[in-house]
Amino acid sequence: MSTEKTIRRVTTKTLGLMKKKGKKIAALTAYDFITARILDKAGIDLLLVGDSLANVFQGNETTLPVTMDEMIYHTKAVTKGVDRAMVVVDMPFMSYQLSVNEGFRNAGRIMKETSAGAVKLEGGKRVAGTIKEITAAGIPVMGHVGLTPQSINQFGSYRERGKNEEEAKEILEDAIAVEQAGAFAVVLEKIPATLAEKITKTLTIPTIGIGAGINCDGQILVTPDLLGLYVEFQPRFVRKYANLAEEMDKSIQNYISDVKEKNFPSEAESY
Ligand code: KIV
Repeated sequence: MSTEKTIRRVTTKTLGLMKKKGKKIAALTAYDFITARILDKAGIDLLLVGDSLANVFQGNETTLPVTMDEMIYHTKAVTKGVDRAMVVVDMPFMSYQLSVNEGFRNAGRIMKETSAGAVKLEGGKRVAGTIKEITAAGIPVMGHVGLTPQSINQFGSYRERGKNEEEAKEILEDAIAVEQAGAFAVVLEKIPATLAEKITKTLTIPTIGIGAGINCDGQILVTPDLLGLYVEFQPRFVRKYANLAEEMDKSIQNYISDVKEKNFPSEAESY
C-alpha cells in the first residue's frame, strides 16, 4: 500500500465552492518551472501564465508583443512544476480578437499543446461570443475586465478604470456578460473597491482582484512584483513581500569578488 498522499488538483469546481464557502482564492503569475514549483508547493490555488511575461520576462513596455508560441513554451515549463494549482493561460493579443473562430482555434491549441486547465481572455461584452464558443467545447475560460492591458493603446494610460458612473456601469455589464457567456471566474483589474464589491456580490462565479480591493473572492499579483524582483514599475496595489533584486545583487557581488580574489572554488568544491 502506498503511503504517498494524493494531491487533489484545484479545478473550476473547487474555486466555485471556495466562493460559496467564503474561502479566499490566492493566485499568482508564473512563467517558468522553478517558480511554478515553489509557488505550488507553498499552496497557491491558481497560477496564471500571464501575458505580463511580455513585460517582466521579455522586457517589453506593453503586453502586446508576446506570441502564441511563446505563451505555449512558458506554459509547458510551468505545468511541469505544478501538482495542485489550477494553471490558467493568458490568450495573447490578437490570438482571439480577429474572429470567434480564430479565438476558438487558439484556445484549443493552448489546451492541446500544454497541460493547462483553462485560458483567460480580456474584455466583456465584446468577447462574450468567443467565450461562449470556447466553453461550449469544454475549455474553461476566465474573463478579465476593468483595466485590460491589451487595450492600452485605446485607453492611453494604465489609470484606474470605472471611476465615473458610465465606466462603472460598463464594467459591471462586462462582468455579467462574461459570466453569462460561461466563464468560471473573472479578473477585476484596477477598479474602485466599491465597484469590485458590487460585481462580486452580483456574480455567482469567483472574482479575482488585482488593485480591486479586499472584497473580491480572491487576489492575484504578478510574482516578480511581490518578490521585489521587478522594480522598474510599482503600482500602488502591489505589496512587496521580499527584496529579491537586492538579495540577488548582494549574492552576485559576493560571487564576483570570490572569483576575483581566488576564494572560489575551495578544495571541498573541487575534484
Ligand atoms: O498578465 C497578467 O499577469 C495578468 C494579471 C495582471 C491578472 O493578466
